Amino acid sequence: MALILLRLGLSRALSATTKTTTTTATAAAYGAGQITVLEGLEAVRKRPGMYIGSTGPRGLHHLIFEILDNAMDEVMGGHASKVDVTLHGNGSCSVSDDGRGIPCDTHPQTGKSALETVLCVLHAGGKFGGSNSGYRVSGGLHGVGLSVVNALSRDMEVEVMRDAERFRMRFAAGNPASSLEKCGDFSSEEGGGGTRVTFSPDPLIFESTEFDAEVVAARLEELAYLNAGATLVLSDERSGGQSRGRREFRHDGGISEFADSLCAGKSLLHPAFEGFVATGSRNDVDVSCALRWSADQFTDVVVSFANGIRTADGGTHVEGLRATLTRGINSAAKKAGKLQTNIPGEYVREGLTAVLVVRVPEPEFEGQTKSRLGSPGVRPIVDAVVGEAVSKLFEWQPKALAAVLDKAQAAQRAAAAAKSARDLVRRKTLLASTVLPGKLADCSSKSSSDAEIFIVEGDSAAGSAKQGRDRATQAILPLRGKILNVEKCATDKIYKNAELQALMAALGLGVKGEDYKLRYDRIVIMTDADVDGAHIRALILTFFYRYQRDLVHDGHVYIACPPLYKIGKNVYSWSDEDLAAQLEKTPNAPVQRFKGLGEMMPAQLWETTMDPARRKLQRVDVQDAAQADRIISLLMGDSAAERKSYITAKSTNFALTDIDV
Ligand SMILES: *[C@@H]1O[C@H](CO)[C@@H](O)[C@H](O)[C@H]1NC(C)=O
Repeated sequence: MALILLRLGLSRALSATTKTTTTTATAAAYGAGQITVLEGLEAVRKRPGMYIGSTGPRGLHHLIFEILDNAMDEVMGGHASKVDVTLHGNGSCSVSDDGRGIPCDTHPQTGKSALETVLCVLHAGGKFGGSNSGYRVSGGLHGVGLSVVNALSRDMEVEVMRDAERFRMRFAAGNPASSLEKCGDFSSEEGGGGTRVTFSPDPLIFESTEFDAEVVAARLEELAYLNAGATLVLSDERSGGQSRGRREFRHDGGISEFADSLCAGKSLLHPAFEGFVATGSRNDVDVSCALRWSADQFTDVVVSFANGIRTADGGTHVEGLRATLTRGINSAAKKAGKLQTNIPGEYVREGLTAVLVVRVPEPEFEGQTKSRLGSPGVRPIVDAVVGEAVSKLFEWQPKALAAVLDKAQAAQRAAAAAKSARDLVRRKTLLASTVLPGKLADCSSKSSSDAEIFIVEGDSAAGSAKQGRDRATQAILPLRGKILNVEKCATDKIYKNAELQALMAALGLGVKGEDYKLRYDRIVIMTDADVDGAHIRALILTFFYRYQRDLVHDGHVYIACPPLYKIGKNVYSWSDEDLAAQLEKTPNAPVQRFKGLGEMMPAQLWETTMDPARRKLQRVDVQDAAQADRIISLLMGDSAAERKSYITAKSTNFALTDIDV
């Protein structure tokens, strides 16, 4: 078993994700530093979840993201400019960069090549080498190292071009399967060098080893915005109708272009916000932030990252941004003689779109999905950097200040109007038992802990669900058509909307920010497996993400997974791949495609989708909900046709955390 000594504190991610034993005897030898003994790669195969979160789809894609992070480190260091990801026809994946190449010389202490050490020893990556490693900062969640990917791969091949030579080494389940071979020279015409990692995820570890090109594409798109000038390419060489071939991601405009894409189709409050970006750094923390205000947007859209990782749940950097905007705008307005009493932050932020990116040495991530930045020192730094830029902007652009102020005051007036509507909802929820919506088919159980509610679109699907359900514990709430897009509506409209009122009353929800008294432990969104179904699901998730985030946090929200096909008498299929496999077994069986839930017989719906003993449910976490929210805001201005193709492409992303319940 490979053991390695590491100084504790090089990475907080380490202590969070690995089993560590502190040995005081050796600690003395390193003076003040603490020593940690880490286990070898067998530990990773035994408990993969501790390193990559899960062995479901999210963990699977994490393997690619991990190698990508290494490649992006080369890009950020100015050593590489192009990264290629290829999904091969045989199920493997390659990631290559044109960077410096992993060193292949022999490590003085281990007697092994640096390459083998990086690939076979836990956390021996350059990222963990401290300030002299050449990498200033590393991601907290992804930074588990190439060795973890190697450990969880059935086979891996690493090719390095470095010092005019070509090297290759193969591995199987984390162990060397060949020696480090020199395989010739390479000429400088081929570029400066680089690393190419090809791996096949181990089917013994993962529930499924099939990569979703859209999940990878979404990450590459994000990285292209965060690394202006870099070219990222995704090639999907797999056969099948889903493959979209080769796609290139490059955004020379960086986060400013990112913010513009989020505002596409909206009208900016003032030209001064075009291209506006605040940048600066203090104490080794880098901050950049693109800010826009739109006239026709009634919430704030803040997309934040820390060390390249999406912080769906915000954190100290987002708190710093909020604080500085509230204070900055109020004080600028007072200075200009336009304001007597402060306007609260939530109104100042109405219509705001922000992309906030920080890089922090040794970041701390919090929460179940590590999607919240916890590092306390970041808040005042963001506050200072953004605050300075914003106050300059408003000093030189009084019209921009006036526009934001007008919007904020209008929001405050709308909130006052909303109060009466809100009070109505509050009264209704307090008296929930007497004013439950008429269309709710409640369950007979009075205890919320064993009760669940299915939110169903349309009357025919609701009909099947009502007949098929277990009346004791399962309630059905039909929604009619699309619910409101909460991003497009002022708060008072939301609380006055009949569908949302019914939803809130049925679930036992209070208004935003208040405690809820949930009438059902599980809230299951059951929509058709088509574009409209995906859209409605995204709208509901967006409402939860914006107005009832605790529900998602506390793990109450699920997505039902109805089958797509019925094959022969009683075999169901949930995917095209599975259908093809089933048809190989029974080539002559008739195939029925379910276009909507309404087409299923009540008994069919029960046995495939609702029966707790047999169904598959996906639990929604904050990252899933944030993704849905972002898609909805991306789509605000798009045409219906674009919206449809986008949602179809992305619909698999909504819930990546597979769990069987
Ligand atoms: C899969 O295909 C790729 C590309 O042709 C190749 O590099 C890799 O070695 C193959 N992997 C296996 C396990 O055959």
